Amino acid sequence: MAISAVVHGPLLTLVVIVSRFGAGVVGLRMDYYFMTCPAVDQVIKNTVFNALQADPTLAAGLVRMHFHDCFIEGCDASVLIDSTKDNTAEKDSPANLSLRGYEIIDDAKQQLEAQCPGVVSCADIVAMAARDAVFFSGGPFYEIPKGRKDGRRSKIMDTINLPSPAFNASQLIRTFGLHGFTAQEMVVLSGAHTLGVARCSSFKQRLSNFDSTHNVDPSIDSNFVKTLAGTCSKGDNAEQPFDMTRNDFDNAYFNALLNRAGVLTSDQTLLTSTATRGVVNAYAMNQAMFFLDFQRAMVKMGTLDVKEGVQGEIRSDCRRINN
Ligand code: HEM
Repeated sequence: MAISAVVHGPLLTLVVIVSRFGAGVVGLRMDYYFMTCPAVDQVIKNTVFNALQADPTLAAGLVRMHFHDCFIEGCDASVLIDSTKDNTAEKDSPANLSLRGYEIIDDAKQQLEAQCPGVVSCADIVAMAARDAVFFSGGPFYEIPKGRKDGRRSKIMDTINLPSPAFNASQLIRTFGLHGFTAQEMVVLSGAHTLGVARCSSFKQRLSNFDSTHNVDPSIDSNFVKTLAGTCSKGDNAEQPFDMTRNDFDNAYFNALLNRAGVLTSDQTLLTSTATRGVVNAYAMNQAMFFLDFQRAMVKMGTLDVKEGVQGEIRSDCRRINN
């Protein structure tokens, strides 16, 4: 919420301007830290870029972390909280065990606490780190509004609401619809799979006993079946890149779908289903359109169920709620 003060003679009138982002009223602001921590963008960008120069594969981790944060309990850094003896947190859910990049968030947080203690939320750091990871990898740069507060709840059971890699298009449309996204926005956000890898355990159900009539998922190209089987021959944790350029943010993912070389059921279904096929074709043909729509959808995702004011806190350690 932006508050500007207007002086009328001796009277001070407060004018409250409420800005709207996404579905709800959210008082996030582009210049939220302008007075309180002006170097925030620079600190996060430098931290992310240094880390990604050393290991470019972590860009994927940061982008996925933001998604898993926002879809569960809103963008409130609940995904960063460590389990305790009394609570098993989101990050210990099977769906989150392969999340990567926590150290980058910790590093940025420590620097920001040294410069402006108690000011910058972990939720904002996650959102900005994802943005910088997209840009580092060759994707679009987009500004994001800030002012998210950190949540105090992180429970493994909540992660049941993350979409399954075995979902078909209508299940994906329904799940994303619950968060206010259109089918087109769901497809463009899935385009984040232009970065990174999936482990065999996430797609092996496509390779044998697929359904009552098929042993192997018939939507996979026959040569790509061999590629996936080759990866799985090295074990459940063996990694399969989503496209040929796993560290580059480009539209190769959508072209892989056209070649019937999508890694997850939830990837290939975007081409198989008539509800989403047109969008896949468009992004495969037009990378600029993918970039533009992606940045809009990421800004929207970053405003999901955001906590403000007393609804949350500024954690001093991103892995623990404040005492
Ligand atoms: C549409 C529904 C989605 C499903 C079912 C899904 C599922 C998955 C799965 C199963 C993996 C591989 C995990 C593993 O095997 O370790 C993965 C990786 C990834 N996902 Fe998604 N995802 C979805 C949407 C998204 C969205 C919206 C984003 C971000 C905006 C995203 C970003 C990523 C990234 C970057 C990776 C690679 C991570 C890495 O290499 O460390 N995904 N996703």
